[in-house]
Amino acid sequence: MGKRRGRACVVVLGDIGRSPRMQYHALSLARQASLQVDIVAYGGSEPHMAVLENQFINIHKMKQWPVRPHGLPKILNPLILLLKPLFQFFMLLWYLCVKIPAPDIFIVQNPPSVPTLVAVKWASWLRNSMFIVDWHNFGYTLLALSLGRSSPFVAVYRWFERHYGRMANGSLCVTKAMQHELAQNWGIKAIVLYDQPPEFFHPASLEEKHKLFCRLDKVISQPYGIRDCASYGSIGMRNCDLTETLFTTMADGDIFLKPNRPALVVSSTSW
Ligand SMILES: *[C@@H]1O[C@H](CO)[C@@H](O)[C@H](O)[C@H]1NC(C)=O
Repeated sequence: MGKRRGRACVVVLGDIGRSPRMQYHALSLARQASLQVDIVAYGGSEPHMAVLENQFINIHKMKQWPVRPHGLPKILNPLILLLKPLFQFFMLLWYLCVKIPAPDIFIVQNPPSVPTLVAVKWASWLRNSMFIVDWHNFGYTLLALSLGRSSPFVAVYRWFERHYGRMANGSLCVTKAMQHELAQNWGIKAIVLYDQPPEFFHPASLEEKHKLFCRLDKVISQPYGIRDCASYGSIGMRNCDLTETLFTTMADGDIFLKPNRPALVVSSTSW
């Protein structure tokens, strides 16, 4: 008690609510490493409750580059490609060097690499902090998907990513393949850190499944189309306290998966 907690700053040039891995990092740093954590990111979607409720985690939401008005002449595109990172760069510097207390360590998600890596490297100089990069992907390859491999912007982007990536005091990455690429191409020695989702990600228990299928029962037993197999053999209207769903049955308080249950496919987008 009374001992000063160390500080870490987690930087994402993106929506923190859509960055589960950086949220896990923040949670681990706060819980296991007992650090005071500042997250500097954009808002948008809600981060997980565990992050919001943790008293040692503070979220600082940056202002975003204004959405481009429609009908702007195409000739301005290169100008915007230059202005946007400059705007982001000064916004990052403002937060990392002024708005938050000096951290012992910065952890930044890459990509986006420009201007993030430059801004965090400079901030770590100015604030005398360690600079750690968490590699999720190569930013320049993502940029090449939209601009084409031969675009000069991609070459400049790649230079920044490589040059500043190599300046890190430490590097983390998501897979062995990424580790190999980083070592082979850029001489960066990264440590693979697999995602270890917190306890709120776990396989659903039978009881949770049963409750879910009870809640969904009406929806899945009403056919949307003539071949809707889920409606096959369904038993009309039921109330919330079901003893039987399409997938589960309850007998004497115990829940079982039905042997003749249909297959269930969950897809991430409209399929
Ligand atoms: C981090 O890297 C910088 C530049 O390479 C170096 O000057 C600094 O001493 C390093 N910090 C630590 C704690 O290793």
